[in-house]
Amino acid sequence: MKIALLNGSPRRENTFAMVEAFRQGAEAAGHEVEVLHVGKMKIGGCLGCEYCHGKGEGKCIQKDDFEKLLPAYTESDMIVFASPIYYFSMTAQMQAAIQRVYCIGKPAKATKAALLLSSGAGAYDSAIAQYKSYMGYAGIEDMGIITATGEENKSEAKLSEIRQFAEKL
Ligand SMILES: Cc1cc2nc3c(=O)[nH]c(=O)nc-3n(C[C@H](O)[C@H](O)[C@H](O)COP(=O)(O)O)c2cc1C
Repeated sequence: MKIALLNGSPRRENTFAMVEAFRQGAEAAGHEVEVLHVGKMKIGGCLGCEYCHGKGEGKCIQKDDFEKLLPAYTESDMIVFASPIYYFSMTAQMQAAIQRVYCIGKPAKATKAALLLSSGAGAYDSAIAQYKSYMGYAGIEDMGIITATGEENKSEAKLSEIRQFAEKL
């Protein structure tokens, strides 16, 4: 299946290691993975202008990096959200990427999703609640949530858990 892996971290550190482990496992199982480094993209917050639902006919009025993400949302069978925890939630870049999907309503084709979260001390409730509510609304099945807290980050045990998870999808 075609998997879009959204990486909300602006760094090539802890979340990136989780992303790479997932990619390795999924590719070993024969899946096609596209990694999108959302954390480094310039994506403005939704303006709520409703241009997309009128004259825009599904297109957002803002011309920015969200255009690079749209094919992933429309053509993928699975979407994986990966993010560090910033102040009890996913990064602002990831929030913008999620909320701008408003222009097309819901990811068109995706039936599966997963969530990878990294943190210093573990404060996942808000990010997990948002992800579960969003997937419920979009009718997308949650395949699993993996977290890496403090020293678990970049540990071989955690990366192996992620690789195995992706291999079994
Ligand atoms: C702006 C900012 C806010 C953070 N907020 C939290 C937090 O609320 N809870 C927590 O446990 N860690 C928090 N952290 C720590 C990161 O989640 C943690 O270091 C994570 O592993 C970073 O991932 P990365 O290497 O992919 O950037 C924060 C870090 C930053 C830079």
